[in-house]
Amino acid sequence: MLKDRINDLLGQVKDLQAANAEELEALRIKYLSKKGEITSLFNEFRDVPAEQKRELGQLLNQLRQEAEGRINELRESMANANANAEKLDLTRTPDPIALGTRHPLSLVREEIEDIFSRIGFTIAQGPEVEDDKHVYGMLNFAPEHPARDMQDTFFIEKEIGVQKPTDVLLRSHTSSVQTRVMTSQKPPIRVLCPGRVYRNEAISARAHCFFHQVEGLYIDKNVSFADLREALLYFSKEMFGADTKIRLRPSYFPFTEPSAEMDISCNICGGKGCSFCKGTGWVEILGCGMVDPNVLEACGIDSKVYSGYAFGMGVERITNLKYRVKDLRLFSENDVRFLRQFESC
Ligand code: DAH
Repeated sequence: MLKDRINDLLGQVKDLQAANAEELEALRIKYLSKKGEITSLFNEFRDVPAEQKRELGQLLNQLRQEAEGRINELRESMANANANAEKLDLTRTPDPIALGTRHPLSLVREEIEDIFSRIGFTIAQGPEVEDDKHVYGMLNFAPEHPARDMQDTFFIEKEIGVQKPTDVLLRSHTSSVQTRVMTSQKPPIRVLCPGRVYRNEAISARAHCFFHQVEGLYIDKNVSFADLREALLYFSKEMFGADTKIRLRPSYFPFTEPSAEMDISCNICGGKGCSFCKGTGWVEILGCGMVDPNVLEACGIDSKVYSGYAFGMGVERITNLKYRVKDLRLFSENDVRFLRQFESC
């Protein structure tokens, strides 16, 4: 019966599917082309008795409309999918792109550099593999000074396997850059020397075999201890806040005379006393002093004409205070749980 075949096809065309343009074209040919199934039903329709023409004619037209509608629908959704695919950049890195974080020691070192650059200091660098002369000799260390001892300094063996001390070593402080700068530049000199230093120490929460220092040096005519104090007060307030107080305690370093150690009022308890400052309200952050005339002379600078000050601070120490880091090992272990905390900086 024609009616049954029409109804059968009506059921089929509702959910026609095509995976690509070829399949879609095959459907069109199957149902709607000159030799297609629906077209041939229209041919048979001519022979239908007059009383059935109205009903079957409507049904046939409905079938053709639905077949055309479904095929057009498939064609449109295929065109949209293609347009979207063209917008996709398949070479892009998948989101989200994980950005690295700044290392806290770099952040603090840059802050120190920034503060001193505002009062005229420029950056100077020196080698990490040094010689005895620049690290100790020209800095007025007596030949038998304990800092030269094998226990403190890493000496580099000239011949592999020969275990005797040589004068090639890993610098144990950035004061060595002072001697390099003073022998290569003429006063006035105003430099800041950041860098890594090495000491033969057992690794613990409070000591490490390498750490970072920033050395400062200012040489000119008439430089006084008051200039040193002012520069360090300015630095401390910029770094730790305007309320910060400083105090200078007499000390000894071979390369400065007089020498001092500088404490700042504890920025964690505000000077009231806490576990960080061991209840004293003060924390030591650097060593400093007036450059010893022997050092100036050893570097070829006339100590009767010029004077200067120097200071040296540990970057880890400043970072501990600023970010309350209690264990030095965190700085070199690369634990992302620690490092990610500096993301927003
Ligand atoms: N070099 C010293 C150290 O490693 C720090 C230091 C102290 C540097 C006094 C200076 C200074 O320039 O004047 O502990």
